[in-house]
Amino acid sequence: MNLECYARARSRERCAASRTVNEMDANRDCTLSSSRLVLEPIQARHSELLFEQLQDPSLYRYIPTEPPTSPSALRARYERLAKRQSPDGCETWLNWAIRLRATGEYIGAVQATVRPDAPALLAYELGAAYRGAGYAAEACRTVMRELVDGYGVSEIRAYVDTRNERSIRLLERLGFDRTGQIPNADYFKGASSDEYIYSLDAFSKAAQRFDRSRRSVGS
Ligand SMILES: CC(C)(COP(=O)(O)OP(=O)(O)OC[C@H]1O[C@@H](n2cnc3c(N)ncnc32)[C@H](O)[C@@H]1OP(=O)(O)O)[C@@H](O)C(=O)NCCC(=O)NCCS
Repeated sequence: MNLECYARARSRERCAASRTVNEMDANRDCTLSSSRLVLEPIQARHSELLFEQLQDPSLYRYIPTEPPTSPSALRARYERLAKRQSPDGCETWLNWAIRLRATGEYIGAVQATVRPDAPALLAYELGAAYRGAGYAAEACRTVMRELVDGYGVSEIRAYVDTRNERSIRLLERLGFDRTGQIPNADYFKGASSDEYIYSLDAFSKAAQRFDRSRRSVGS
């Protein structure tokens, strides 16, 4: 996924905690599942399974990155992501490939960046053929639960281009609140990109809604 650079660019806080999140991550079995999906921690082998899916230009309309140039370039990136931490060791980079239980197809990815003393960051992408079925919401709820229960995260944040209506709908459906706006946050693909900041406090009423709905999808 090209989400790595995107979330990393949003991660500006410095590593300050003496106990890094990676100590918590060290022994976790990160395969997650919900009623329709299995979320597999991204490894090098996923480059072959996801490369074709990632050629879809609609995935990159509202983010600065481009499709992977070759399977080997994607493999190299997934090898880095499989280490699950930033080069300075301060952040835990969690990336999951989303697999449909029913057919075994790989349909997209979810990424979370867990940072010491800062909100976790959430990002996601789904192949065009699989949108409109609630899969992204189901995958995100599963990851959000893992962040709260497994990593002690109390706030989750997402940055989204103000033109990205599907992503905005998804965040609001998940219970996120719009907490800020960054005009001219970036410039790419011939246009300026304004961004909304969306936040979810894990202990808020909205989070209780997310918690209820996650049960209803059986995740
Ligand atoms: C953002 C993105 C992941 C959203 O995907 P999505 O499929 O629209 O999101 P959801 O999983 O929440 O699906 C919701 C839709 O499924 C429908 N749906 C159908 N069956 C459903 C079910 N069982 N449960 C829930 N929703 C269901 C909903 O009604 C909704 O339809 P609507 O959007 O027409 O109202 C997708 O558009 C994408 O990958 N975009 C490109 C990458 C990108 O921009 N990433 C974000 C960068 S910030």
